[in-house]
This record gives sequence, C-alpha cells and structure tokens, in this order.
Amino acid sequence: MKTILGKLNGIEADRELLQQAAQIIKRGGLVAFPTETVYGLGADGFNEEAAKKIYAAKGRPSDNPLILHIAEENQLKQIVKKIPEKAKKLMESFWPGPLTIILEKKENVPYTTTGGLDTVAIRMPNHLGALSFLKAVQTPIAAPSANTSGRPSPTKAEHVLEDMQGKIDMILDGGEVGIGIESTIIDMTSVPMILRPGFITQEMLEEKIGDVFLDPTLQNGLQEKERPKAPGMKYRHYAPKADLTIIEGELSRVIDQINRLTAQKVSEGKKVGIIATEETKKFYRDGMIKVIGTRKKEETIAKHLYSILREFDEAEIDVIFSEAFSEKAFGQAIMNRLIKAAGHHKIIV
Ligand code: TXA
Ligand code: MG
Repeated sequence: MKTILGKLNGIEADRELLQQAAQIIKRGGLVAFPTETVYGLGADGFNEEAAKKIYAAKGRPSDNPLILHIAEENQLKQIVKKIPEKAKKLMESFWPGPLTIILEKKENVPYTTTGGLDTVAIRMPNHLGALSFLKAVQTPIAAPSANTSGRPSPTKAEHVLEDMQGKIDMILDGGEVGIGIESTIIDMTSVPMILRPGFITQEMLEEKIGDVFLDPTLQNGLQEKERPKAPGMKYRHYAPKADLTIIEGELSRVIDQINRLTAQKVSEGKKVGIIATEETKKFYRDGMIKVIGTRKKEETIAKHLYSILREFDEAEIDVIFSEAFSEKAFGQAIMNRLIKAAGHHKIIV
C-alpha cells in the first residue's frame, strides 16, 4: 500500500485534502491525523473491519479499546446511552481538549472498537486540523495513538511515517503537536476515576465536579497482579529500544550518579544517552546528551519526551539514563510515561 502524505495548512486549501481523507475513511481505510496531544490513527468507529485494520497496523492486542473522537457534542447521541450530570460538566469545561471520558456505550458501537467492553472512551480534540478532519468525515473516528504498539507515541508526522509507512492509506501532517503526551482518561460510569493521567490534572477535574479518584494502579507503580482499568495501561509502553533507567533524588547526586553510570557503560563499549534539562546539561561529561526541556516549564518536558526517545532509537543507543522530574500536577503524567518507558527501572540516590 502506498501511504499518501498530505500537509494541513489550516486554510481553505485543506478542503480537498480533507475530502480525500473522508473518502478513505468511508471506504474503511486508515488515516493518521494530528491532535493537540499526539497523532492518532483513525478509522470509522462504526466499521468493524476498519477497526480491525487499526489493530493490525499497530500490532496492537485486540483487548485494548480505542478512543472515539468527535467534533460536536450532538454526535454523542449515536454513541452513549446517557450522559451523567458530572460528565456533562466535564465536557462543558474541558472539550474540546485533552480529556477522554468513559461512558456506557450504545449497542451500535461495535465491540471491536471497545475491545469487548460495554463502555466507550470519547474525546473531542482541541486541534484545528483534527476538528476539520472529524467534521469532514461526519462519523466518530476510532483512533489510538498512531505508533507501532509499544513504541513511543508520535508527536510529529515523521514519527507516524516511521511506524506506519506502507501500512495505512494517509497521513495528515499538521506539524509538531502542542502537548506531547496522551489525554487524561476519566471513567465516569461510576465514581469519577482517572485511569490515565494527562495534561488535565486531578486538581483541575476536582475543581469542576468534586472528588475524583485515581486508579490505584497509578499510585504506587503497577504491581504484577493488579490489573489497571484502562487495558492499555498494562502493556509495556512508550518504550525506546534502549534500556532506560531513571535516576531520582537530590539533583546534584542524580548528576553524579548519571556521570558515574555513564563512564562505566562507556568503558564497557556501550553507547549511552542522557536525558538532561537546560539547567543540568553542562554538568554531564560523556554520552549523547539531549535536553528535554526546562525544569521551570514542565510543558517543555512533556512535549519532547517521545521525540527524544525516538532520536535515541535512531542513534542506536544501548543505554539511556534520565533524570527524574517533579510529579506535581502535570508532572504526574510525565513521570507516569517515563516510568513506563523505563519498564519501572528506577534508581534512587
Ligand atoms: O491523547 C490521546 O488520547 C490519543 C489521541 C490520538 O487522541 N489517543 C490515545 O489512544 O492515546 P490510545 O489507544 O493509545 O490509548 C487509549 C487508552 C488505552 O489505554 C485504552 O486501554 C484506554 O484508553 N481505553 C479506551 N477505551 C476504554 C474503556 N472503555 N475503558 C477503559 N479504558 C479504555
Ligand atoms: Mg497509545
């Protein structure tokens, strides 16, 4: 299959491209598109055969449900049985935006889309290109992140091309995404519960609807026997090919430890990558040093996390050492992804 690469310019000229994308979706094909979080791999959410193609292109286990993306709230009628008051409040407050809400599905949403569950995850992305695409297709679009299963999520069209060239019909290139990590997922089918942390934090949600709980598997890292409620959270995720270790503790000790470990690995003939920040980069002596962002603005760290992991893959790095970051507010989501990318491998100094 030849993958068409089309550039979104945010102007009238996009119309033709979006019509072409809509045709592909109607025929049951796959179109990758930008959102404010990460790129998604879209198919018609009501077409089981199309949803199956998503699983095949990603190499994704079929028990891992997809998110339905919509452009307008009136599309919800086709998808969910009812909208509880608090869920409505969240939609009013955070849509369009990086918040995915889980509700009870209607019969016509196929189990292929929901991974066999009676609930469905829904989100309205806050991205002009995504919204234009969703409006052009006129149907809810089932879309996971557009990466090969297990690899870091794509934050640029080039990343999608790396993983999906020849496997999907089209990639809509909207440039680099704004946020860089996936949406917050909140289950609203019973007590409000965060299943995956993201840019919309627990505090922001509680400010609108009162108590919001965290899936217990998010609190102390994932134990083998515990099953997270978002099926996707149980898989090794967001992972680079190299062995990634996080070093946590007082910053000067973290730097010393990373320098020590790097010297040791380099002497063993290994290629070492270091995830550093603007504030710390000058203290490292060896290895391939990459600046992820500044500690003063956690958004910069989120935005570059996945692309740095991919750059280390490209450079065929064997071992990566990363500084740990604050777990406050949005930091919780950043550290959640970093810890998963590291396969829970963390050293405390
Ligand atoms: O920001 C995002 O959410 C991106 C963009 C493309 O919208 N999408 C994304 O999709 O991250 P994906 O498939 O990579 O992650 C969806 C997560 C998975 O962990 C999945 O298990 C969970 O959502 N999920 C989906 N439907 C669910 C449901 N009904 N109940 C529980 N978890 C669900
Ligand atoms: Mg994903």
